[in-house]
Amino acid sequence: MRYKVVKTIPEPISVVGFGCWAIGGSNSNERGFWGGTSDSESIRAVHRAVDLGINLFDVAPVYGMGHAEEVLGSALTSIRQKVLIASKCGMVWNEKKQVEISLKPDSIRREIEQSLLRLKTDYIDIYQFHWPDPLTPIEQTMEIMDSLIEEGKIRFVGLSNFPLVLARQVVGLGKVVSYQGLYNIFERNADSYYGNPLNYRTEDEIIPFCVDNGLAFFPYSPLFQGLLTDEFKSMDSLDMQDTRNRNPNLSGEKFRTYLEMVIELKNIAIEINRPLSQLAINWLIQKDAVTSVISGAQIVQHVEENAAATEWVLESDVLSRIEEIVDSSLDIQ
Ligand SMILES: NC(=O)c1ccc[n+]([C@@H]2O[C@H](COP(=O)([O-])OP(=O)(O)OC[C@H]3O[C@@H](n4cnc5c(N)ncnc54)[C@H](OP(=O)(O)O)[C@@H]3O)[C@@H](O)[C@H]2O)c1
Repeated sequence: MRYKVVKTIPEPISVVGFGCWAIGGSNSNERGFWGGTSDSESIRAVHRAVDLGINLFDVAPVYGMGHAEEVLGSALTSIRQKVLIASKCGMVWNEKKQVEISLKPDSIRREIEQSLLRLKTDYIDIYQFHWPDPLTPIEQTMEIMDSLIEEGKIRFVGLSNFPLVLARQVVGLGKVVSYQGLYNIFERNADSYYGNPLNYRTEDEIIPFCVDNGLAFFPYSPLFQGLLTDEFKSMDSLDMQDTRNRNPNLSGEKFRTYLEMVIELKNIAIEINRPLSQLAINWLIQKDAVTSVISGAQIVQHVEENAAATEWVLESDVLSRIEEIVDSSLDIQ
């Protein structure tokens, strides 16, 4: 494993991390966000990741409505000190499982207590705001974060999906160490995610901002939710309940363009005898500003393949060919 160091976090962070969204739900337990596997397989995947030197685990309460945190917590009970847990707050749900955004202090207070219980730990390393809450003044939100730091319940604050102006304001208040945003070979400055507007431009605004402020940057959906892997065949192969059916970028005209580019990238991957997933991960790792690629995985085989991306580097001629493929379809970004 390779590690990167950022000014704001004392521990070196593995360049490949582990995204826990998918382990929050599988078909068998009817939580049904992603087509999936069993909790025991997810736990094996987490253990294998730790064995391979992965030390950053990104999770959120809303992933499987608490279940991803529970599975991660069960997996980490005896090895908690070896890893950094980056969980989130701000997406809360009611008894009908309707989700809303809230960064109100009392809501965060409830969320942290529940997350700590589910994660079976007494602290979260990086506590990230999942999405901005336009109805709550950010100063109020930061006050509760200060209290949680003082109480030892969280170590640092992280941002996710924040527009640049708001990110600047929050970083100015101190304690923020990281930013998490949508970023992969195809989606560099995407203006929407699952049809929701993204009020930030990752490559043009956020990455330079993170560099200027010494923040870690964690790209999410680094494998474009599985499209940038050898296993993705077609949307028809997904289970009806799979959350990806609701991603408009994985259907229609735009999707056809992505698929054409995937075929070209696959040809490069075959030529250099590497899996497409490793090409996609390495494209991110070679960027100094990318701290840890939080690739989602539920099974040991995927974790091993993703970790092995760190065993080789993209040559400059391969990089140029990737850029040519994407440049020729720039209008889709
Ligand atoms: N802050 C936010 O708003 C936000 C939004 C989205 C995601 N995230 C975070 O980012 C993480 C990753 O993003 P993501 O889950 O959207 O998607 P992703 O990492 O781009 O893709 C995950 C998909 O790729 C498959 N996969 C992983 N490694 C593979 C390999 N080596 N070969 C073949 N297939 C492979 C996984 O399959 P298996 O599941 O079968 O292993 C899964 O279907 C999430 O888990 C979450 O922690 C954050």
